[in-house]
Amino acid sequence: MSVLPARDASLAASWEGLAGVARGCTVCAELAATRTQVVPGSCPEGADVLLVGEAPGAEEDAAGVPFVGRSGRLLDELLAAAGLPRDRVAVANVLKCRPPRNRTPHRSEVEACRPWLQRQVELADPVVLVTLGGTALQWAYGRTARIAALRGQVQRYAGRPLVVTYHPSAAIRYGPRGAPLAALREDLATVAALVRH
Ligand code: URA
Repeated sequence: MSVLPARDASLAASWEGLAGVARGCTVCAELAATRTQVVPGSCPEGADVLLVGEAPGAEEDAAGVPFVGRSGRLLDELLAAAGLPRDRVAVANVLKCRPPRNRTPHRSEVEACRPWLQRQVELADPVVLVTLGGTALQWAYGRTARIAALRGQVQRYAGRPLVVTYHPSAAIRYGPRGAPLAALREDLATVAALVRH
């Protein structure tokens, strides 16, 4: 039976149940033809933070797990430094499939995939949401939203706090003295403070 994200996501009663159905999604023909597998995301029991990234890269596509590549290793270090162990943190992407050659997701793909992430927010029910990078930010606030304008102040999304920050790949690109790395450290410290309260 074909998968209909809007219907199947809203019917999912658990993160794992949603992941099982999403793994069979073929709505975006190009992505379904080029991916190795769907990468629904991970949600440890009792997670109080939900990080939203852009889309799986090559390593995530191979492993079926989000943020296991270079960006993921940096993210793990930054989370640990902020006092946020990865087992308290759920992770999902705007797109559940790797775009070919890691191109930026098309708007139509973001919209096709939206019901999965929307339901994941409800199922994870995090204390705090975090958008990593521009694609995740624009998923939440629309295409005119800019990181520079919205980070540094806690935002709201679906009735909960949302912290806007850079994608770890920007921190890698701009290097250890670059603004994105410093911003990520600061923003993850804000997240840690929010979950402690
Ligand atoms: N970049 C993302 O946005 N998500 C991943 O899972 C890996 C890299």
